Amino acid sequence: MELAVIEIRRLNYSDKNEVSEFYNIFWRIPAEIGDEFINEQSSGFIAKFIDHSIATENETNTFSGIALFQGIIVGIHVLRKFIECGTIGVHSANLWVEKNFRRMGIAEELKIRGEAWADSIGATFINTNVLPDNKVMLDMNKSNGFSIYKINLRKRIINNKIG
Ligand SMILES: CC(C)(COP(=O)(O)OP(=O)(O)OC[C@H]1O[C@@H](n2cnc3c(N)ncnc32)[C@H](O)[C@@H]1OP(=O)(O)O)[C@@H](O)C(=O)NCCC(=O)NCCS
Repeated sequence: MELAVIEIRRLNYSDKNEVSEFYNIFWRIPAEIGDEFINEQSSGFIAKFIDHSIATENETNTFSGIALFQGIIVGIHVLRKFIECGTIGVHSANLWVEKNFRRMGIAEELKIRGEAWADSIGATFINTNVLPDNKVMLDMNKSNGFSIYKINLRKRIINNKIG
């Protein structure tokens, strides 16, 4: 399949069904990639998250890129603006492409568009967290100019359940 058959654009926040499809995918990704600290979220949590996103996200603070095949979302990329010591940065909250659509260049295209958005809002850097065993994503980021900045460590506190 050619990249040309894929529509790549920003999420349409005025289409609640599309936002819902987007954030249901978003919250499935941690389990897919084996993130042991982020449990599968309840439908109630996701519903509230969708309402909050519609109310607060816009092109000044969030890049929500989507790749569509025949109207179905097959790829997402989320960048969020943040301020660090008075400097604008963006944090990559997610990048995902549906299994049957991988190795077509969709992630690369979403990253290019996300970085162009980051540049347009005056960001000076992009921050991203990657699980240590996710070699594909580590290599892709390195080949896109990312380098290791800090290493994030976590210790489980066994008495408290993850919410
Ligand atoms: C990582 C991911 C987003 C890549 O999406 P993709 O659309 O397949 O990536 P692209 O087609 O744009 O690949 C760009 C380049 O990255 C490298 N790459 C991508 N997938 C690869 C793989 N499985 N093995 C080796 N290299 C790979 C290649 O260099 C590729 O270029 P090439 O196909 O011309 O060789 C996708 O595999 C995915 O959704 N994984 C699960 C979710 C995930 O891990 N997200 C990151 C969380 S931090």
